[in-house]
Amino acid sequence: MRLILVALLAGLCAVSAVSVHSTNYAQKQKDVWRLFKYINQPSYYKDHVEIAHNYHLSKNVAAYSKPEVVEQFYKYWQYGKLLPRGEIFSVFHGEHLKQAVALFKLFYYANDYETFYTTAVWARNHINEGMFMYSLSVALIHRPDTYYFSLPPIYEIYPHYFYSTEVIKKAQYYKQMYSGQQGSEYNDKIIYANYSGHYLNLHPEQSLSYYMEDVGLNSFYYYYNLYYPFWMSGEEFNLKYDNRGEAFYYMYQQILARYYLERLSHGFGEIENFDWEVPFETGYYPSLCYPNGLHFPTRPNYAHLYEYFYNYGQKYGFNKYANSYSYVKDFERRIHDVIDSGYAHTESGQTVELFSHHGMNILGNLIEGNPDSPYYHYYGAFQVFARHLLGYSQQPLTYFKLHPSALEHFETSLRDPAFYQLYKKLLSYFIRYQANHKHYYNEHDLMYQGVEVKNVEFDSLVTYFDYFYADLSNAVYVTPQEFVQDSFKVQVAQQRLNHKPFTYKIYVNSDRETDAVVKVFLGPKYDEYGRFINLTDNWMNFVQFDHFVYKLKAGDNIISRDSHEIYNYMHDRTSYYELYQKAFGVHDQSHSFQFHHDQFWYGYPQRYMLPMGSRGGMTYQFYVMVSKQLPYKTHTTVPMIGSGMQYVDSYPMGYPFDRPVYWEQVFYDIPNSYFHEVKIYHEHHDHGYEQHLEHEATHYMV
Ligand SMILES: *[C@@H]1O[C@H](CO)[C@@H](O)[C@H](O)[C@H]1NC(C)=O
Ligand SMILES: *[C@@H]1O[C@H](CO)[C@@H](O)[C@H](O)[C@H]1NC(C)=O
Repeated sequence: MRLILVALLAGLCAVSAVSVHSTNYAQKQKDVWRLFKYINQPSYYKDHVEIAHNYHLSKNVAAYSKPEVVEQFYKYWQYGKLLPRGEIFSVFHGEHLKQAVALFKLFYYANDYETFYTTAVWARNHINEGMFMYSLSVALIHRPDTYYFSLPPIYEIYPHYFYSTEVIKKAQYYKQMYSGQQGSEYNDKIIYANYSGHYLNLHPEQSLSYYMEDVGLNSFYYYYNLYYPFWMSGEEFNLKYDNRGEAFYYMYQQILARYYLERLSHGFGEIENFDWEVPFETGYYPSLCYPNGLHFPTRPNYAHLYEYFYNYGQKYGFNKYANSYSYVKDFERRIHDVIDSGYAHTESGQTVELFSHHGMNILGNLIEGNPDSPYYHYYGAFQVFARHLLGYSQQPLTYFKLHPSALEHFETSLRDPAFYQLYKKLLSYFIRYQANHKHYYNEHDLMYQGVEVKNVEFDSLVTYFDYFYADLSNAVYVTPQEFVQDSFKVQVAQQRLNHKPFTYKIYVNSDRETDAVVKVFLGPKYDEYGRFINLTDNWMNFVQFDHFVYKLKAGDNIISRDSHEIYNYMHDRTSYYELYQKAFGVHDQSHSFQFHHDQFWYGYPQRYMLPMGSRGGMTYQFYVMVSKQLPYKTHTTVPMIGSGMQYVDSYPMGYPFDRPVYWEQVFYDIPNSYFHEVKIYHEHHDHGYEQHLEHEATHYMV
């Protein structure tokens, strides 16, 4: 599921190994983390306060490679248009976004690391915290001199967006009770967090809340969107070689496929379809509150989305979001026209061919509504308005007082069931395109002469829940002294899905030595009623499980893979507190602190590699395909975002499930591929929450 693969990781490891020897790296990394602490308060570090007080952008214009970037930002500052600190920031509001991009450019175009850092420290105390954190994170990932720094886990920086209200309140309760007291009671409190399904019963699907509210899953989605921001120009910021439009399609296809697997293990079927005109069935109560005390907006069951209801009593004027329904309908119409006609046009009226080799990439850019779209203003930003509409947030009086819904933050989007329904609709556009214009794969396309997959074996696959610990200190407010001394700590523990380590083997016979690429997919076999799902209806439900290059020797090969080395997935990020301790614990700065590569990139959490099993075993199937290796053509040797170096091969993303399957028998017949049925079991511990889940699961089980 992760788009980055072996090549890049090898590259990153090399880079980090080099950097670790530079004395500066540890210091810089530490400096960067300090900026993320207690983000809802100003920084009280002396050095920060000094810089914030003394640094003047207008006197340092020459320190930025594009002076107009400083001018632009300075205008917002000078005319009092900047979102004040303490207000809620949303990247999906045009005005907030404009300012965030201006700030990002300031960071990005700083001439050297020192200027970048000074600008960041200045902004830390002057700029809205949400905007600061967002722009800084994107800049860290995209600047060539900082991309290998690790970002602290977002659920620890912004716990309000990841843990429900009662958890946050409890942390604050401890802080008020014990603050100022010395001794063991003060520190190291552990709060046991639950998911909203623990006490809410809005909808049967609430039983999936452990999945939709998982902190790792939600931060994966957040990080992906830092790497490929929807507003970022590929030309200006060097994303060109990543096929971001195609990657956009693939990312959502994978998220939906994976969610469907989890649904099946609870007896739920396909993700619902919806019409904009019919009241939206699935309500949502987020159980989250903003640091300023406002609760996240809720959506009732059967919400009316069309304009008369949605917009009732709203101001007429600048607020285009109040007209989201009209925008969504217009953009949808235009997207359909492009797909069926096969061409888009640019602002100057030139046509862009969509039935071409890069068609999928162009369509992805167009639908995402990023600046690489053929004509951004015409094809528009469908998802921005759709999120606003479905999120059901109230219209604000001014953009200073926004009250965004869960769908209007990347940190919380995956929590709302409407997210999956919306992106299912969006994926249906791509499928319509693929069905219109793609040639169906036949045996000549898929066959790899002389290579045969003879067998596939998996160890037993067992899921279970275990406790995951994270630092929750940022959920409270601290005194300047506590801030500097780091003297208040509270932890949160929450049950998350996991699985026992396993290995699997692929037995391949080859008639010669050859460079092959191996792909492994995990998909459903039966629907929620136990009916076999034909591949013609199932191809879009396969999750890419593993993907690697392998040198086959002539004769029999046994490829053995360990669940830990499956590179499509990421391990949990190291806790902020731990990272921080490590950095400060290192007296000799040249002494290494090694990061696992997982600290640098984003990926689907390793814990969720397997969908939850059941006591009697849930049936799924793996599909293995061995193909000729076609290396991806990269254009640079720097292993960073935009270089294309993360791609294992140059097949279309998701190949051979990158398009509808028509000749399904071919997939069963060609010798270089193999279907393997497995059962996934779930092991129970004596825990109330799990028993509740088990009850749901067995209830629906066929
Ligand atoms: C979560 O549920 C458990 C068991 O009912 C309870 O002990 C715990 O206090 C709950 N956590 C919170 C933060 O409410
Ligand atoms: C799958 O569906 C197609 C189209 O409906 C049908 O022709 C084919 O026989 C089905 N295959 C199986 C194995 O059921």
